Amino acid sequence: MERGFFLVLEGIDGSGKTTVAHKLKEKYEKRGKSVLITREPTDYELGKYIRDYLNKVTEQERDPLFEALIFAADRALHIRRRILPHIEKGYLVISDRYFYSSLAYQSINGIDFNWVLEVNKYMLTPNLAVFLDVAPSEAIKRIHHARNVFEKKRFLEKVYNTYLEMVKRGMLIKVNGNKNISEVVEEISLLIDDRWK
Ligand code: TMP
Repeated sequence: MERGFFLVLEGIDGSGKTTVAHKLKEKYEKRGKSVLITREPTDYELGKYIRDYLNKVTEQERDPLFEALIFAADRALHIRRRILPHIEKGYLVISDRYFYSSLAYQSINGIDFNWVLEVNKYMLTPNLAVFLDVAPSEAIKRIHHARNVFEKKRFLEKVYNTYLEMVKRGMLIKVNGNKNISEVVEEISLLIDDRWK
């Protein structure tokens, strides 16, 4: 059986990852592939707890140490229960966020990037990890639920810069998320096809 492919989509809130994931799914299903869209935080117990926590705290109240650990625990289950079994069955697995989100969102307030990287050391490496590049000023317009827009924008700028740093290090491949959706999907599928042989 053909081995699957593990694609990760990353970006700041409001960058359109979820829409891109669904369009990619349609495209690859038309080609006869089995596709799984999954996400982090997951829909497992811990993932639900995390979503609930994120809904309750403001950006200032967030605790990156706690978050880095709990996101990693949720991820370990995600890999074992969902990602690996589907890759083994030949699926294209598309994860809406992965450990790059922990590096971008939790390496703040004294928690350094390398420590977050270390916590995620044993997580499965994806075949391709894409950073959907949409500037914070643009993304914020698409987020309707931000409680404090100014605070949210400052926070997202830090997150955005860390993503760019990962692009520089070669950990993520940048795709311009401002283009129209079909161009974005085309660009990502070329990257997939190049690697999925
Ligand atoms: P989303 O479902 O809109 O992508 O929201 C998930 C939120 O969780 C988003 O603000 C980013 C955050 N997050 C982290 O802070 N660290 C992580 O490791 C992951 C996976 C998500």
